[in-house]
Amino acid sequence: MNSRIPGFYKLSLKDRIEKVKEFAGLSEEEIKLLKETGRLGLETANRMIENVIGTFELPFGIATNFLINGKDYLIPMVIEEPSVVAAASNAAKMTRSGGGVFTNSTEPVMIAQIQLVNVECPGSARFEILNQKQEILDLANKQDPVLVKLGGGAKDVEVRILDSLKGKMVIIHLLVDVKDAMGANAVNTMAEAVAPYIEKITGGKVYLRIVSNLADRRVVRAKTVVRKEALGGEEVVDGIVSAYAFAEADPYRAATHNKGIMNGVIAVALATGQDTRAIEAGAHSYAAKTGKYTSLSVWEKNSEGDLVGSIEIPMPVGIVGGATKINPLAQLSLKILGIKNARELAEIMGAVGLVQNLAALKALATEGIQKGHMVLHAKNIAAMAGAVGEEIDSVAELMIKRKVKVRVDNAKKILQEIRSRTKS
Ligand code: MEV
Repeated sequence: MNSRIPGFYKLSLKDRIEKVKEFAGLSEEEIKLLKETGRLGLETANRMIENVIGTFELPFGIATNFLINGKDYLIPMVIEEPSVVAAASNAAKMTRSGGGVFTNSTEPVMIAQIQLVNVECPGSARFEILNQKQEILDLANKQDPVLVKLGGGAKDVEVRILDSLKGKMVIIHLLVDVKDAMGANAVNTMAEAVAPYIEKITGGKVYLRIVSNLADRRVVRAKTVVRKEALGGEEVVDGIVSAYAFAEADPYRAATHNKGIMNGVIAVALATGQDTRAIEAGAHSYAAKTGKYTSLSVWEKNSEGDLVGSIEIPMPVGIVGGATKINPLAQLSLKILGIKNARELAEIMGAVGLVQNLAALKALATEGIQKGHMVLHAKNIAAMAGAVGEEIDSVAELMIKRKVKVRVDNAKKILQEIRSRTKS
């Protein structure tokens, strides 16, 4: 079997599936899994990426109880991990004790980078580029009259001289207000368009022209005050503050702490059709912006003994273009959220990240997270043991009640017991 299949992309969906079937020895049953698609549909999927053979589903849930800037939101979340949606709903309820979550954000400014090399005098090149700033901005803005009409477009040019393995490089940043778009396409087009002019005025050579995913000009901030009573007392507040101190000081912990934040952020990102990798890249590079990777959030105790949480995180999200527009379920998510623009969506996602973080820290500082995971995990194991319908809940419940290890062999024993009971 050879994976070299010339023209695979040109084949019809049916023929592509046939090729994969031959290659991997798939059965008719397995092929049916590829052909039965959800709302996205094969034809739409086929236009979104290359070499499509099907679509891939994930659970779509709703987190409740969110009060953000005094407004109630139901939060659409798409995620494979048990407990995330329940934890978010639970922690959101706690934040209501202090009026919910409050947010703000910067203008939606993305950065395009232009890498200029082979310049004799980098200082002089910097001067020339900044001297021609308006020409560069005009040239960039010619690429996107619609964005400019909406009040967006290229707003500023910055120049950095970078010491690299290949000597000094001049790195030009084009700062673009992308309004309701995620913006990577818009800024990449602009960077490509201005590159020849930059070469001309500096005598250098441009290589890369691409968005920076360290979107540090497009950040959202969220804050919440959680009453100690809503958390179960001041000891819990102290535990959460101590968990934060651990993450702040230790990159090994900060990675997991931030992963908990991204559980919420990415679940909303998937539900609304965002580029999740751009959001992840932005978040983690921002967490390392001082040179040391640390926590994206801050948890403190105020004079009343209540918990105060805050977060600042890049949030490059759009509500026009890309998968958001194409995927009907992403459109539905936006409708459930009732948001008006990308900035509002970004702020909601920052708030969800903070609340998700609270949920994890509260669990970790008290009972641990396994208990919360157990119910869904036990249900999965029960289904794997062959339980169907109501049997799944009964087997799961009994495994937990009897405190037996949640394993397929134990689930099978309990299932047999239930079945023999119902027969007799
Ligand atoms: C699990 O998906 C996320 C947590 O590990 C986050 C954390 O440790 O803060 C629970």
